[in-house]
Amino acid sequence: MTKKVNVTVNVNGKTRSAEVEPRTLLVHLLRDEFNLTGTHIGCDTSQCGACTVLMDGKAIKSCTVLAVQADGTAITTVEGLGSVEKLHPIQQGFWEEHGLQCGFCTPGVMMAASNLLHENLNPTEDEIRNALEGVICRCTGYQFIVKAVQHAAKLMRTENEEIAIAEATLTEGER
Ligand code: FES
Ligand code: FES
Repeated sequence: MTKKVNVTVNVNGKTRSAEVEPRTLLVHLLRDEFNLTGTHIGCDTSQCGACTVLMDGKAIKSCTVLAVQADGTAITTVEGLGSVEKLHPIQQGFWEEHGLQCGFCTPGVMMAASNLLHENLNPTEDEIRNALEGVICRCTGYQFIVKAVQHAAKLMRTENEEIAIAEATLTEGER
């Protein structure tokens, strides 16, 4: 029997551990051990991108990374983006701009978008398409996905402006 190894990762802000076989893929660790089934598996050729998550803030295909390679890292899955009560601006953007059809690719698209918007809150259409090129939408609704990401970027910029105004008001009040 294959000896199991301990893997500890910070997933969506919480430390989680599991004993897994060395060959276990990160996507299986997330889905089978941690029950985070929002991360999808859409192929066995590392092409579809449905399994995209953030590892230490960078978008990666979790079917191309061994669970042991993720040991000690911080992973964000689609479940860590927002909640039903308070959607993340990316989820809000997809909701308002109809950025999904069947929704199978959506978690991967959102995580790739999250990586992009963390680095660039004002991306051009080309930059959005480049950032999302690793995720295939079989429903082919790319036009709506781009619009959804543009809308999400706008919501995030507005949110940042509101925070900046609130902080400036607070500082003003302290004078
Ligand atoms: S499941 Fe298709 S790229 Fe990972
Ligand atoms: S919305 Fe169906 S695969 Fe993208």
